[in-house]
This record gives sequence, C-alpha cells and structure tokens, in this order.
Amino acid sequence: MVCHDTTGKYKKVLTSAGMSAKDINLKTIAENVGHTSRASCGACHFYGGEGDGIKHGDISSALLNPDRSCDIHMGEYDFTCVECHKSENHKIYGRSSSVPVTEGVVSCSDCHSDTPHNLSETFDYHLNEHCKTIDCNTCHTPLYAKCKPTKIWGDWSKAGDKKRKPKKDKYEQPDYNPKKGELKWEKSVKPSYAWFNGYMNRIFIGDKVNINREIINITSPVGSVKDPNSKITPFKIMKGVQAVDAENKYFLIPHLCAKDKNDTTAYWKNFDWDKSFTEGMKTAGLDYSGQYKWVETWMYWRIAHEVMPADSALSCVDCHQSLKNEKTCNKCHKNQEGIDFKKIANKGIDFEYMEAAGRDVGELKDKTDYINFKSLGYEGDPIIYGGRFKKLPLKE
Ligand code: HEC
Ligand code: HEC
Ligand code: HEC
Ligand code: HEC
Ligand code: HEC
Ligand code: HEC
Repeated sequence: MVCHDTTGKYKKVLTSAGMSAKDINLKTIAENVGHTSRASCGACHFYGGEGDGIKHGDISSALLNPDRSCDIHMGEYDFTCVECHKSENHKIYGRSSSVPVTEGVVSCSDCHSDTPHNLSETFDYHLNEHCKTIDCNTCHTPLYAKCKPTKIWGDWSKAGDKKRKPKKDKYEQPDYNPKKGELKWEKSVKPSYAWFNGYMNRIFIGDKVNINREIINITSPVGSVKDPNSKITPFKIMKGVQAVDAENKYFLIPHLCAKDKNDTTAYWKNFDWDKSFTEGMKTAGLDYSGQYKWVETWMYWRIAHEVMPADSALSCVDCHQSLKNEKTCNKCHKNQEGIDFKKIANKGIDFEYMEAAGRDVGELKDKTDYINFKSLGYEGDPIIYGGRFKKLPLKE
C-alpha cells in the first residue's frame, strides 16, 4: 500500500509495528493503486532515522520536486526512483550501505556506459580514464544534502536533560533533544572519500567489538588503493556516541518507545538507560552485564543521488594542485592554436557563484585538495608522483 497508493491518504502509526492507521478508507485506497512514485518510495526513504533527510545525506523530501542543481535526474529529467532502481518480481535493484541484503546492483554505467564522456575531443580522454579509478559521484555529486540539512552527529550519552533548552543552528535545526542527546546538522556538505569495491564491513547485533578503540565503525567500505576493482567513492559519515556492554563487549540495544501508559522501562518515557538496556537486550535475546560504556561510532553512507548538472562536476584543478598554475595541460601536451588549456583545466563547479546564490560553501573556494591524495594512499598529486599502477615520467 505504501508503495502503490496514489491517493496520498494511506497512513501507518509509528508505534503499531507496521499496521495501517484505523481512520483511513482502505477500500478507496485499494481502488486507486498505481505505479510507484518518488513520493511513495520517499514516504519511507526520505524520513529514515526518524525525520526528513536525517539518515542518508542524499535522500530527503527535497527529491519530491528538486531544483536541477539539487538532482539533475529527478529535477530536470523527472526520473522516478524505479527508472534507476529497476525491479524484477518485486526485487528492487540497489545495494544498501547498511543492510547486507542485496536484490541487485544499480550503477550509473547501466545507462551511461563505463566511458560516458563523448562531447568534447579535448576533455573526454582524461575524464574517461579517470572512471577506472574514481566513482562517478565523486566528480558529479561534489556536495550532498544540498537542499535539506542532514544530521551528522548524535551523542546519545548526553540525552536525558529535560531542563536543557535546545538552540537552533543556522539551518534552523535543534542542537539538543532530551530523547536523543546532542545533535549536529549540516547542509551542502563536502563528502568524505574512501576506496570502495562494492562491499561493506558491518557490525551485527551481538558481534564483539574492541571497546577501547577511539572510534568503532558500525559500517565501513571495503577497498584499497592497490585493488583494481576499488574506486574513490563519496560517503556521508554519520558520527555519534552509543553504548556498549562493558563486559560482553557488544553494542547495547535500548528500549526507546513506550509500549503503553504502564511502560516503566522505555527510555523516552522514563529516561533511565539501565532499565532501557535491560529490556532492550532481553527482547534481543542477549545477555546484559549491567555495565555500560559510551563509545564513539562512525557509520558510512554512500552518496549516490543528488547528481549535479554536468557543468558543475569537479574541475581538474579542484583535485590537481599541479594544474593550478601557469602550466596546465601543457605540462605534458604541446600548446595548440585555438585551445585554451587553462580554461579547460578550470572548467567545472563554481563555488563562488554557489556561495553568492546562498549555499554554505564559502570554505571550499580556491581549494585544490578536494580529495586528499595522501590519505587515499598516494605519495601526492598523481600528476607529479604517478597513479596507483603507473607513473608518468614527470617527477624528474
Ligand atoms: C514501507 C517503507 C518502504 C517503502 C515504501 C520503500 N522502501 Fe525501500 N527499504 C525500506 C527499508 C526499511 C529498507 C532497508 C533498510 C535501509 O536500507 O534503509 C529498504 C531498502 C531499500 C534499498 C536498499 C537495498 C535493499 O534491498 O535493502 C533500496 C535500493 C530501496 N529500498 C529502494 C526503494 C524504492 C525504489 C522504493 C519505491 C518503489 C522503496 N524502496 C520503497 C523501506 C521502504
Ligand atoms: C539516477 C539514478 C537514481 C535515481 C533516480 C534514484 N536512485 Fe537510489 N541509488 C542509485 C544508485 C546508483 C545507488 C547505489 C546502488 C548500488 O550500488 O547498487 C542508489 C542507492 C539507493 C539506496 C541505498 C542507499 C544506501 O547507501 O544505503 C536507496 C535507499 C535508494 N537509492 C533510494 C532511492 C529512492 C527512494 C529514490 C527516489 C526518490 C532513488 N533512490 C532514486 C541511483 C538512483
Ligand atoms: C536509468 C538510466 C540512468 C542512470 C542509472 C543514471 N543516469 Fe545519468 N542520465 C540519464 C539520462 C537519460 C540523462 C539525460 C541526458 C542524457 O541523455 O545525457 C542523464 C543525464 C546525466 C548527466 C548530465 C546532466 C546534464 O544535463 O547536465 C550526468 C552528469 C549524469 N546523468 C550522471 C549520472 C550519474 C553520476 C549516475 C549514477 C549515480 C547516473 N547518471 C545514473 C540516465 C541515467
Ligand atoms: C574526474 C571527474 C569525473 C568523473 C570520475 C566522471 N565525470 Fe562525468 N563529467 C565530468 C566533467 C568535468 C564533465 C563536463 C564535461 C564538459 O563540460 O564537456 C562531465 C560530463 C558528464 C556527462 C555529460 C556530458 C557528456 O560528456 O556526455 C555525463 C552524462 C557524465 N559526465 C556521466 C558520468 C558518469 C556516468 C561517470 C562514471 C562512470 C562519470 N561521468 C565520471 C567529470 C567526471
Ligand atoms: C576527483 C579528483 C580528480 C579530478 C577532478 C581530476 N583528477 Fe586527475 N587524477 C586523480 C586521481 C585520483 C588520479 C590517479 C589515478 C590512478 O591512480 O591511476 C589522477 C591521475 C591523473 C593523471 C595521470 C597521472 C598518472 O601518472 O597516471 C592525469 C594526466 C590527470 N589526472 C589529469 C587530469 C585532468 C586533465 C583532469 C580534468 C579533466 C583531472 N585529472 C581531474 C584525481 C582527479
Ligand atoms: C601529467 C601529464 C598530462 C597532463 C597534465 C595532461 N595530459 Fe592529456 N594525456 C597525457 C597522456 C600520457 C596521454 C595519453 C597519450 C597516449 O596514450 O598516446 C594523454 C592523452 C590526452 C588526449 C587524447 C589524445 C591524445 O593526444 O593522445 C587528450 C585530448 C588530452 N590528453 C587532453 C588533455 C587536456 C585538455 C589536459 C589539461 C586539461 C591534459 N590532457 C593534461 C598526459 C597528460
């Protein structure tokens, strides 16, 4: 019903475990089923993590009617979700960053091929070469949460202070919620970059973790600079503080939402972590030692939506410091009459213009280190120091 309702009237209740609301006319809704839409898929996916745009950095209600600069496919070309997420027998293609189930893969290359650039003789060669090493979205989605803020930090250890007054940040989002603790939000965010070969590491319920680590990754991409199947891929990292069992060394599952008026263990009603963990772990069928500890956690969410118009892709200069100065393409190629190499090397996203248009991107202007080559395993700018498998004779 959620997927196929076209009346917009179908409703579920948060606390009723997926059952539909009582005050809706199921007959009318059943008579009006139809194709899925951005609104019907979005009824769940826009609001993951209990609110608009909270969970994914690149999926929010902004995709209902996006501006072309928010998402070119769903804005300018009016794509539905299923134009990319094709399905067979209700198996919806598309891998998730969090759940290990997979019903098929969606890739930009399904439609655009592995060598998608074919408009400009001078520009296309290197762009297509880069597709072997760099995920499309690295260049084509240089910012996420462009049109709605997303939550990037949630410190559960600070929850429970009912006297603390939440302050609104510059995006009109609260910095505190007694049920959830301290919160941080961001908009028009530069992604984090990591090597990714299509697989994710994940921690499951009951998995032992090293609770003394500074940061525990709940999910993280698998990949490396040495793996030819890995590409440099953009992610939102959701950071926060969560509880682990100090003796059993696994994550604790709290009981949050009150079952009814008489519930004495739900955290959101009683604000007592110990009771909430006892109840939550009992339901999960796992032992709770009674000792808990707060740890910092990171969770990687891949950025695959909010593709910008082609002329807002990263420019050569956004990544290569070595192409910034007087010598650009003519470091390696002979000057050619009628071709302005400098202009080509600088062609791409214009942060100055975006800032003037009201986006919070001031700190990204005039930078040439959009991705950090060293932290990705390179010696430095590959134009000077060489690519991962080959070296141009430039260092000498
Ligand atoms: C009733 C809520 C709901 C609706 C409606 C819904 N989804 Fe999902 N979907 C989920 C949940 C829950 C998951 C698993 C958790 C996650 O990855 O966030 C999921 C997972 C996915 C995944 C990740 C891969 C996988 O199989 O786990 C894709 C892709 C996806 N949905 C696409 C869609 C599309 C396209 C539509 C519309 C045709 C849609 N969903 C409608 C709830 C929904
Ligand atoms: C232009 C193509 C395109 C459109 C349109 C699109 N998606 Fe996706 N989506 C992708 C790609 C590519 C992935 C990565 C899937 C993979 O690796 O198999 C993805 C991944 C996802 C995931 C998994 C995210 C994660 O990292 O866990 C969800 C959920 C999802 N899409 C939902 C939606 C919804 C809902 C819509 C419509 C509002 C939508 N998508 C529209 C291309 C698209
Ligand atoms: C279901 C097919 C499909 C998928 C999947 C798809 N695209 Fe597209 N894309 C199109 C179509 C159709 C257009 C419209 C214009 C054209 O034909 O180039 C387009 C246009 C574009 C443009 C040019 C926009 C402009 O007009 O300035 C870019 C850039 C782009 N896609 C990147 C991507 C990226 C990155 C992905 C993966 C996240 C992706 N596409 C996934 C079909 C697709
Ligand atoms: C190194 C950065 C980079 C990578 C990686 C990259 N692109 Fe592009 N792409 C660009 C730039 C820059 C342009 C603008 C070209 C122009 O203005 O002539 C562009 C243009 C496009 C266009 C529209 C114009 C054309 O040439 O047809 C599409 C569609 C496109 N890219 C899709 C993709 C897809 C799909 C991938 C992944 C397989 C990808 N790109 C990977 C930088 C990149
Ligand atoms: C998203 C960042 C990014 C952008 C944008 C980008 N590059 Fe690169 N470039 C890289 C990476 C990463 C490598 C290393 C690839 C490898 O390991 O083989 C590289 C390698 C190169 C190399 C080859 C060096 C060697 O020894 O193999 C050349 C030449 C180059 N880039 C030119 C360009 C040009 C021209 C543009 C603009 C059309 C451009 N790059 C845009 C990241 C980028
Ligand atoms: C670090 C050296 C380097 C830089 C900088 C560089 N290129 Fe290249 N370029 C190469 C190499 C090497 C090839 C591959 C030549 C071959 O395979 O014969 C190549 C190939 C090309 C080709 C394919 C046609 C040909 O001549 O083989 C074009 C077009 C091109 N480059 C344009 C550019 C442009 C435009 C820029 C600047 C935006 C640029 N290059 C910057 C090294 C470079």
